[in-house]
Amino acid sequence: MKMLKKLLTVSLAAAVVCGALTGCGSSESKRIVRIGHNQSQEHPTHIALTAFEEFIEENLGDKYDVEVYPSELLGSQTDMVQLTQTGAIDFCVASNAILETFSKNYEIFNLPYLFVNADAYHEVMDNEEITDQLFKSTEKAGFEAVTWLDAGTRNFYTLDKMVESPEDLKGLKIRVQQSPTNVEMMRLLGGSATPMGFGDVYTALQSHIIDGAENNELALTDNGHGEVCKYYSYDMHQMVPDILIGSYNFVNELPEDEREIFEEGFKLINQVEREEWTSAVEAAKARAAEEMGVEFYYPDQAPFVEACQPLHESVLAGNPDIVPIYDAIQEVNAKYSE
Ligand code: GCU
Repeated sequence: MKMLKKLLTVSLAAAVVCGALTGCGSSESKRIVRIGHNQSQEHPTHIALTAFEEFIEENLGDKYDVEVYPSELLGSQTDMVQLTQTGAIDFCVASNAILETFSKNYEIFNLPYLFVNADAYHEVMDNEEITDQLFKSTEKAGFEAVTWLDAGTRNFYTLDKMVESPEDLKGLKIRVQQSPTNVEMMRLLGGSATPMGFGDVYTALQSHIIDGAENNELALTDNGHGEVCKYYSYDMHQMVPDILIGSYNFVNELPEDEREIFEEGFKLINQVEREEWTSAVEAAKARAAEEMGVEFYYPDQAPFVEACQPLHESVLAGNPDIVPIYDAIQEVNAKYSE
């Protein structure tokens, strides 16, 4: 089944790339704008991208035909970033976590316990004076970040026991996103990091190749992880945003009037996704508890925070370019800590 999905994905991605390169399959003279992501069609990300599709087609429908590909149909996030870099597709949603392997400065938003709370996180991500220096810095990597999407808070969940303190992670194989910062975070917390793509996690849990994973609540329901993992612990180690990236050439070659409309569309994506997010998390939590029997636990966060602190120091020492962003974040944090 998995092999079949992979084969289908590969052939769809190949067909899409062929269409992008040769123009075969393009409807009349409209430019097809392809956007890929790895969530289901019920997920806030897909709802927001569909709103973008409608908005662009309402305003620039004579020129553009937007196509949204959900559920890793165009491959894993890493595959989709590569397709976006080369311009084979135009946009994709990538977790900030994996972007650090394409452009090191993205490390910043992968730091555990970077924000004191969700309000500080949202304020930072909405502040273009802070985010622009990162979002607009990746011309050489072939992409540009055009907006961010809330992906909530990441927490540990496991097959066999509740993670009440970092001690409980010892000896457990925990899936993390494919990012050096995440691997180091797991090491500091005492668990054993198993990096893999999102689409492989369910099978890895089901076959006990890993003992647990870490994610927001939607992974329990939307991705079925709550069918196998019944222990979800709110240690709240990260708030990692999802980033909508566009192919650098596509975004920067848009005529000015069209670029303005696309910019409005990017804002719409952010707004719609956030409106959907809060209720989606509440619904996922209720469904996980009532229908899947998942237990939720609120541990003392202090030992987790303490264990992760050295990562702030080592990442900043290894990458002085992100220190100004880090300092700006601390100013926002200070407002919410008073
Ligand atoms: C969240 C996030 C995705 C990411 C996934 C993961 O679902 O929104 O962008 O791919 O976590 O853990 O890989």
